[in-house]
This record gives sequence, C-alpha cells and structure tokens, in this order.
Amino acid sequence: MFLKLDKISKGYGVPENRTYRNVLKDLDLELEAGSGLAIIGPSGSGKTTLLNLLGTLDVPDEGNINLGGSELSSLSEAELTVLRNKSIGFVFQSHFLLPQYNIWENVLLPTVPSGKAGDEVLTRAEDLLKETGIWDLRWQKPARLSGGECQRTAVVRALINNPSLLLADEPSGALDEENAEMIMDLLIRINKERNVTTIVITHSTELAKKMDRVMRLKNGKLEPLK
Ligand SMILES: Nc1ncnc2c1ncn2[C@@H]1O[C@H](COP(=O)(O)OP(=O)(O)O)[C@@H](O)[C@H]1O
Ligand SMILES: [Mg+2]
Repeated sequence: MFLKLDKISKGYGVPENRTYRNVLKDLDLELEAGSGLAIIGPSGSGKTTLLNLLGTLDVPDEGNINLGGSELSSLSEAELTVLRNKSIGFVFQSHFLLPQYNIWENVLLPTVPSGKAGDEVLTRAEDLLKETGIWDLRWQKPARLSGGECQRTAVVRALINNPSLLLADEPSGALDEENAEMIMDLLIRINKERNVTTIVITHSTELAKKMDRVMRLKNGKLEPLK
C-alpha cells in the first residue's frame, strides 16, 4: 500500500479545555500507488487538517501514517524535509507564485535545494509548461498571467521534482467555472498519464466526481461516495 492511515486523530487546543476542538477521529485511509482521490466535506470539517498531515506539515495526535513504506512518525525533521521536497507536490487555493520572478524561475525554484537543475529537470519543466499551455508565457512575471494560468503554473511547480504524491487543497476554489474545470482536468491527466498518486480537495461535488474515487469527510472520518 502506497499510503496508509491507521486510526488518525487530530485536534486543536488543549484537551480538557473547553476551547479544545477534535477535528479528525480514528480516521482510516488506504491508497494504492497511482490512484486518484477527491475529498469533499463542508467548511471546517477538517479537509485542510487532513491534507497537512498527509503532506507532513503537521503531525497527528494519535495514529500512524505510512507513506511509501516509511512510518512518518519515525522520520527525523531533516528526513521529513527531504521527503516533502522530493516526494510530495502541493497545490493550494492561492498559487503562491513569487511576484519578483518570472514563470520559468518560479517553476524551477523547488529544484534549488538539490543543486543546479539538470537536463532531466529542464526537460520536465518544458514538457509540463507545454502541456499546460504556459510555455509561451514563461518569461512573464505572474502579475501578467490570469488566475487560471497562475494556478496551472502552480501545478507545474508542484510536479517539477517528480513527486510520487500530489496534494491539492481546493486548487480551483478561487477560479471561475471554466478555469476550475481546466485545473481539475489537468490534475486528472497528471494522475493518469504520469501515474502520480493524487489527492484533491474540492468544494464541488461535480468536479470531485471526475476523479476515480470520491470520499466525504464527515464527523472526523472519511466515508466513500464513489
Ligand atoms: N491551527 C489551528 N488552530 C486551531 N484550530 C484550527 C486550526 N486549524 C484549523 N482549526 C479548526 O479545525 C477545524 C477544521 O479546519 P480545517 O481543517 O481548516 O477545515 P476545512 O479545510 O475542511 O475547512 C475548524 O473548526 C478550524 O477552525
Ligand atoms: Mg480547508
């Protein structure tokens, strides 16, 4: 199993304090390598909390997460940083492109920690930018691009280190209908053609249904919808 969550619980605040809020409770999930999953759920149901745990940006209070054979709780902070940079790609609702750099530079930024970008990385950047229709805009700064184009660039940036897991937290939440659909179709294509295990959080049940598997986060647990 590529990803296995075993009885994950996560809350915020101090237990026994009345402000304590339990968000995830005994949550289980199993995903095969290369699978695609959409997660829906009302605002405040814990979708971002769950994605942060999967992305090693936060740790569960209880339970285990196994990613690609590694028990996350057994990894050091340095090992987690390497895993996060090499194996996990993130796309958020805001694109977080750096305004002072052009598109080409923004896309290559995640490769900086591992040294000079080699031919393989440059070829992947070119392929992805062509595939997403951003290639001709690569010398522009983000401010010159539309919201949809910026978000497509953010997807390219998330894939530049060839991750095995792609996590997207409401990636089309800030876009109009047409661009929202374009981003979802792009994520599905990446999942299928590049075999990247993909988990997308979306508010739209309609967009969610485009993924192979759909689950709803409810009462701190995931329940299958499709
Ligand atoms: N860092 C935090 N500190 C305290 N409470 C938080 C924190 N992050 C999220 N929460 C609370 O946890 C609940 C779930 O939040 P979140 O995971 O962001 O939900 P969703 O992404 O589904 O809207 C919400 O009630 C939110 O207010
Ligand atoms: Mg959220």
